[in-house]
Amino acid sequence: MCEALRRGRAAGRRDSMVVVAEGACDRKSTPITSAYVRQVLEDRLHEDARVTILGHVQRGGAPSAYDRWASTWLGYEAVLEVLSAEPGTAGPVIGFRGNRVSRVPLVEAVAKTRQVPDLIASGDYQAAMELRGGSFIEANRIFAEMVEPSRIDAPEESKRVAIIHAGGLAPGMNAAARDAVRIGISRGYTMLGVQGGFPGLRDGDVTELTWGEVEGWLTDGGANLGLRRTVPGVEDLYRISRAIEDHRIDALLMIGGWNGYQAVELMHRESERFPACGLPVVCVPASIDNNLPGSELAIGADTALNVVTEAVDRIKMSGSAAKRAFVVETMGRYCGYLALMGALSGGAERVYLHEDGISLNALQDDLEWLRNSFASGRRLFLAIRNENANPLYTTDFLARLLEQEGQGLYDVRQTILGHVQQGGCPTPFDRLLAVRLVSRALDLLSAEFAAGSSESRYLGLVKSKVTAFPVAQMMAEMDVRYRRPKEQWWLELQPVLRAVADAAV
Ligand code: F6P
Repeated sequence: MCEALRRGRAAGRRDSMVVVAEGACDRKSTPITSAYVRQVLEDRLHEDARVTILGHVQRGGAPSAYDRWASTWLGYEAVLEVLSAEPGTAGPVIGFRGNRVSRVPLVEAVAKTRQVPDLIASGDYQAAMELRGGSFIEANRIFAEMVEPSRIDAPEESKRVAIIHAGGLAPGMNAAARDAVRIGISRGYTMLGVQGGFPGLRDGDVTELTWGEVEGWLTDGGANLGLRRTVPGVEDLYRISRAIEDHRIDALLMIGGWNGYQAVELMHRESERFPACGLPVVCVPASIDNNLPGSELAIGADTALNVVTEAVDRIKMSGSAAKRAFVVETMGRYCGYLALMGALSGGAERVYLHEDGISLNALQDDLEWLRNSFASGRRLFLAIRNENANPLYTTDFLARLLEQEGQGLYDVRQTILGHVQQGGCPTPFDRLLAVRLVSRALDLLSAEFAAGSSESRYLGLVKSKVTAFPVAQMMAEMDVRYRRPKEQWWLELQPVLRAVADAAV
């Protein structure tokens, strides 16, 4: 530890942080306490360290959006399990694995959990790590790589990897760019940043990014490299090729949304005519809409969902004093992820999605139910509408309809959440997702460099595993008209919302 911290200081790092798990022990089972670490830092490195013991603040607080929708789903599945259980048989443990509810026999689950301390006691750390699961091992490996300080100079022949953002802004883009720079440099690459998306690449606006330059980007909202929605046309590819050659770019890491994917697909498709565009490219999903191919979650979607959830909490509190119905509009274009998951995490009664459409019949049923419900004592109603759920049944229309038909039983307010959903500091979930995806993206590029090949890919989380696909497959996976994947896993949660929202839905 001391050696690693010393290397960091020598490379110019201004602060060092050591995180100690409360149960940490050395290999002779002697506890490694934070006080002990502090003493070691003082004795060996003459560092004036401060200790903060986080304690019970870790257990309190409002649950995040993920903790709400995931536990709602678990509760729903657990009830189904109980209802279908055979008397006298041991039920399973319901858990969450790979973003899905999974069932494991109780005895097996307990035995596996108990094995961890036994393996540690017997000194088999590798096996104990494996029992914690693949993502735990992956996180440990990535962490070890990230903390190594910067190499000072890149060798002359080092590969040059350029980072570019495109599409709409997503919180976590900076975190992903920073991780890419640090991991890339530690692997011996020269990392470049393209300013201003594909127009910036066309204009050759490319600069080197150093280890120190990205300090602080982890928690920054926005996108320091700038981004555009512009998808280049074939007529731009000549200038893009020239810029790739002039800046000796060997590979491109596109961290962004659908416009970025489209740009990469075009470059790939036209690479015979424009050979420079045939360089290896990896697309890393970043979009609050969560509408990208090959990934169940995109960087930024969790941050936006937490904003939606927090806003909904406040709106509900504001309404607690009167009889009120609220209609809240989320972003997402044609993808209803934020609306449905926001409805689950915020405890809404209705959700209106483009995936389902809105029909007059359904609205009439909703109105009748709403009147009866307020007449028999309801005080608050909340509906969430995706911004593009229906071009004519707008948020304003829905609010007026509810008001007009409410017969004075309640009054109605509408809130369009707007760009607060794009801003803000990325959540821990988005930061972790960013580092996992970017680390794998760089693995893919390293493999291309080693093989001398130039495949372009897009990658993402599929059932919690980072998985990559060839760009040639991208369009087939998408509903291009509505800019969303043909299959969307989270639509599985619609019956869960119906069950918890109200029995009458
Ligand atoms: O695609 C991301 C997104 O935030 C959408 O949810 C939203 O409709 C759109 O961008 C807003 O675009 P702009 O930031 O250009 O107003």
